[in-house]
Amino acid sequence: MCDSKQKSVSELQYSVIYEKDQSSSSFRIKNTNGFKYVNCHKIKKIGNGTYGTVYLVKVHDPETNQNEIKVVKEFSFGEPIQVSKSNFYVEPINEYTLTEMDVLTKMNHINLLTIDKVCITPVGKWCAMMDYMDGDLTRLINLNYFAENQMNCIQSIMKQIIEATIYLVQQGYMHRDIKLENILFRDLSNSDKSNWPSPTCPYLIKLADFNLCTRVLGSSNKVQKLGTLVQTLNYRSIEILLGHEQYNGSIDTWSIGCVFIQLIKLVLKVNNIHASDSMFKEFLNCLYANDELEQTLNIFYLLGTPTNEQWPEFTKSKYYFPQMPRYEKNDVLINKYIKPSIGEKGLDLLFLMLEYDPYKRPPLYLLNKHPYFT
Ligand SMILES: Nc1ncnc2c1ncn2[C@@H]1O[C@H](COP(=O)(O)OP(=O)(O)O)[C@@H](O)[C@H]1O
Ligand SMILES: [Mg+2]
Repeated sequence: MCDSKQKSVSELQYSVIYEKDQSSSSFRIKNTNGFKYVNCHKIKKIGNGTYGTVYLVKVHDPETNQNEIKVVKEFSFGEPIQVSKSNFYVEPINEYTLTEMDVLTKMNHINLLTIDKVCITPVGKWCAMMDYMDGDLTRLINLNYFAENQMNCIQSIMKQIIEATIYLVQQGYMHRDIKLENILFRDLSNSDKSNWPSPTCPYLIKLADFNLCTRVLGSSNKVQKLGTLVQTLNYRSIEILLGHEQYNGSIDTWSIGCVFIQLIKLVLKVNNIHASDSMFKEFLNCLYANDELEQTLNIFYLLGTPTNEQWPEFTKSKYYFPQMPRYEKNDVLINKYIKPSIGEKGLDLLFLMLEYDPYKRPPLYLLNKHPYFT
């Protein structure tokens, strides 16, 4: 136990701006009658992204005299500015952080990451304080249980991701950066699982990182003119890759399809049965390119180049050119690696998520009822 009188040298005071009221789940402003402070000791850095740095911290709350292990995500984007005469410096907030704070403080779903405090660090950075998760999905590969129960785990993980995204859609948002690194898990193997719906998979999934989240105007089906500098390249939907500036929430469905493929790759890597197989390298490289054109052609190489019937808008796309190679669907890679990992029903679901024509990509609430999940 850390005695608050024996403060470690690196323990710093963070000003709490908003705090979640545990009984109502809503956030209260904490700056009436002076700020509330918590003492924070950084244990280690656990993530570093475009807009911030994530640390594992030990927090002491003087109000409750409790110590807790937490995670803080510190946002950074500029020189701190002085906001009052009381020597209080704070960084100007940008629209991405504002959206992320907005989402994090409003959402309430078991499969979405939530926070319990919004704070300002001693050097004026905005940060969100939240529970520690065991890691993001790229780390699942190291876990023994996952190695032994991959099929059930992939199915349960996919269901939880879909449910999180359906909730986001219901709240009027699209995520725009769904990928393994932005999906966190907690291993419940050694915890009380009384309310846990998935006996064959002990991983609780939480969708995170709402930096690129945006509001969907009107119905989720309506296309909006939005920026195309969204979605990490290997999870970017085909319409955005080809330069369509109007898109809708179905770009998240595409990314979830890519997550499906990435999970299969993790499974096959853990199995290690294809290690010496040269075609396996080809499969590992699929949907794993370094630029937009390579990613587009990679997708065509796996799924076949879209025909006019499949996607009438294809040849009208900004980055379409007639010399693009015409591939057939790659049944060899699909039947050798994908199908054995997720079965016929899983394959059907995957192809629905990766429908070329965004209008033909079924909404997530329908995909959530797909026979793969029964
Ligand atoms: N609550 C958490 N528990 C454990 N790890 C986390 C947590 N939040 C973030 N991380 C780790 O930090 C990384 C970066 O966090 P993220 O919110 O995605 O920020 P960025 O916008 O910088 O990508 C994640 O990929 C994950 O590995
Ligand atoms: Mg991230």
